[in-house]
Amino acid sequence: MEAMRVKTFLSLLVGFAGFTCQPLFGQDKVDFDRAAVERGRTDFKSSCGFCHGEDATGNRAPDLIRSAITNHDVNGNLLDPVIRSGRPDRGMPAFSNLRDKDLADIVTFLHSQAYAALHSAHVPGDYPVAKLLTGNADRGKTYFDGAGGCTQCHSVTGDLAGIAKKLKPIDLQQRLVYPETRGKQTATVTTADGQSFQGKVKDLDEFNVAIVDASGWYHSWPRSEVKVEVHDPLAAHRELTEKYTDRDIHDLFAYLETLK
Ligand code: HEC
Ligand code: HEC
Repeated sequence: MEAMRVKTFLSLLVGFAGFTCQPLFGQDKVDFDRAAVERGRTDFKSSCGFCHGEDATGNRAPDLIRSAITNHDVNGNLLDPVIRSGRPDRGMPAFSNLRDKDLADIVTFLHSQAYAALHSAHVPGDYPVAKLLTGNADRGKTYFDGAGGCTQCHSVTGDLAGIAKKLKPIDLQQRLVYPETRGKQTATVTTADGQSFQGKVKDLDEFNVAIVDASGWYHSWPRSEVKVEVHDPLAAHRELTEKYTDRDIHDLFAYLETLK
């Protein structure tokens, strides 16, 4: 019984640790488990480096740091299936025998590389920023005004005017692929007796939810006792970004870079 409880607690903890380092989206600082990153680096070098380059910036196979899959992955939800099943018809072998633990380390390594690449021009492995600047601005404009649907919410003479002057290239790219969520979510919390509260999310994890309502009152509940519905103003933006191809992202980025 005791052992069981410890185990549940441990798995919650693991889940929780996963949760806190999971949303790369717009966090100022993500603390990666350094040991996992180093284990992942070693595994990556030996199993993947030959094709994807030892630093994952691409070689005979694509760059995994700029990959939309890496950029939108949350705790392996997108990466795991690709790595496990491969794309045998397109030269990506299946790694079905990889241990879960090793796969998780590789995913952590890829996240840390992608995160570092977006946060600094001088990253471990010297990720070349020039690699971010390879799109075509005209195609980007066409996509922005058309298929991309960006004009539903943005305007290059309105909210995005001069965006490239305001943000360094690396930050602009980051905002585009890791839109800032923090501080923008609101939630409706319904208690067991049917009362409903709305406000800005202050705290949200597997154990607690806390909001500040319109009159500035702070409320918090154990997560298990209430129903929580989170409203994320960026959800639509993020959904869209799942549909971009790498080329779209680079074209869009090249276009946004012209907005000075
Ligand atoms: C024999 C060469 C080879 C090896 C080894 C290899 N890959 Fe790949 N991988 C490829 C190729 C080629 C593609 C592109 C397939 C395509 O066009 O869809 C790819 C695609 C991918 C993608 C999808 C990228 C995207 O944005 O679509 C991921 C993720 C990936 N590989 C991860 C890995 C990992 C992790 C390993 C090591 C465990 C690995 N690969 C080992 C050749 C390889
Ligand atoms: C359904 C609405 C919606 C759509 C469609 C949408 N976005 Fe966004 N986008 C947002 C919201 C909301 C934000 C956050 C704005 C903020 O932080 O003030 C945002 C943020 C951004 C930012 C960061 C701006 C900044 O100042 O940090 C960029 C760049 C951006 N979007 C580009 C795009 C592009 C390019 C497209 C089309 C491919 C797109 N968006 C489609 C809603 C949308």
